[in-house]
Amino acid sequence: MAAEPNSASSIPASTWSDRFEEGLNPAIERFNASIGFDIALLQQDIDGSVAHARMLGSCGVISEQEASQLIGGLETVRSEAAAGQFNPGLEAEDVHFAVEHRLIELLGPLGKKLHTGRSRNDQVGTDVRLWLRGQIDAIDAALIRYERALLSQAETHRSTLIPGYTHLQRAQPVCLAHHLLAYIEMAERDRCRLADVRGRVNICPLGAAALAGTPVPIDRRQTASELGFAEIYANSLDAVSDRDFAVEFMAAASLVLVHLSRLSEEVILWASEEFGFIGLTDRCATGSSLMPQKKNPDVPELVRGKSGRVFGHLVGLLTMIKGLPLAYNKDFQEDKEALFDGVRTCLDCLEAMAILFEEGLEFRPQRLEAAVAADFSNATDVADYLVAKGVPFREAYQLVGGLVKSSLAEGLLLKDLRLDRWKELHPSFEADIYAAIAPRQVVAARRSEGGTGFEQVDQQLQRMRSRLAC
Ligand code: ARG
Repeated sequence: MAAEPNSASSIPASTWSDRFEEGLNPAIERFNASIGFDIALLQQDIDGSVAHARMLGSCGVISEQEASQLIGGLETVRSEAAAGQFNPGLEAEDVHFAVEHRLIELLGPLGKKLHTGRSRNDQVGTDVRLWLRGQIDAIDAALIRYERALLSQAETHRSTLIPGYTHLQRAQPVCLAHHLLAYIEMAERDRCRLADVRGRVNICPLGAAALAGTPVPIDRRQTASELGFAEIYANSLDAVSDRDFAVEFMAAASLVLVHLSRLSEEVILWASEEFGFIGLTDRCATGSSLMPQKKNPDVPELVRGKSGRVFGHLVGLLTMIKGLPLAYNKDFQEDKEALFDGVRTCLDCLEAMAILFEEGLEFRPQRLEAAVAADFSNATDVADYLVAKGVPFREAYQLVGGLVKSSLAEGLLLKDLRLDRWKELHPSFEADIYAAIAPRQVVAARRSEGGTGFEQVDQQLQRMRSRLAC
């Protein structure tokens, strides 16, 4: 029989030991229950119970035959859920009880043997870690897709120039690929950080029981290895009360969102009339209900806006944990919605940004070309020209500063100045000054390792191509 959601009036007192005579107040039942969200852990809960039952059998705590019957029953619950026939109501309290109760319905008294030598405290810790481990792998795949989308744009724009800014003031022109590669570097750090966190998620608390271990002769290493954990917690109190991994994950996810949000801000600026560096395609932009001329960058705006949810979960988790004495406390139930929402937000934003760069925007090379030609972002190169002729940098810097001032007053760019004007400023200037301050040359000259010079950028592209295997 598929479990139907029960009404509040039918709450049995029998979930608990015979110490309890009465059922919960219905409002408290709702308040206490996590089944509304922790049903997301169903697969992991069944996986953990299957491993536990098998271990109880091989340690002789129950017979091998009982173990396989328990495993059969758990797999029946899994199939019922797949068929949409497992819908526990509030009376189940949480996913762990829901599965156990259904098992007892299916197998009778034998089902009651499953919980031997464990507690929901080590069980929930195991489930959450198994779930998060899988999600970290999904986020890694989403990061790779996003990086490939950036890399493909970078490949297309290996010789396109874009103004480079400091303080949001035009500073020096850079190669557009170089700009995009900076975001790929951030995403690569995100992947490393998540891989590092994964190592600390992948430690098994199962068998710590409620807090102190168990007199039942269990084999913790067997369950841990069946579930693919790399290690087991060495201390049972730490095992059931550690949520550092959740905080670490949320901190790493927060940085993913920081990076996505910064890029979003750039895209939003680039799409404005004032910058005009990109056009948004119809695939990712929306219109205004009122102003027919508008095309809005909703995708990057939403990513920028959603980042706050993840930072909020980070602070929420830290605050939830900070006052808790050892060992398990019900406060920990609050870790789940934070993790679920943090993971979903991170995955959704990565996918949206990947699509944005795959098909949602087009750079406008002519606008970009015009932008880099029409400013004083080649002023440093005039100073560098003099330095190459033996003038001390600070002296050259002062000279060029004065030149910029007078050119601005006359409404001229440096490229428009006549040669005699240059010579007047310093006798070392020759006709090759014009080539030296052309934007493409300004970029090409920055050959220092990691600089924006085209050969350096080609090397970065090559490195990323092989790292991302594309
Ligand atoms: N639903 C609980 C949680 O999410 C499961 C563990 C409950 N343990 C307990 N001793 N009440 O943390």
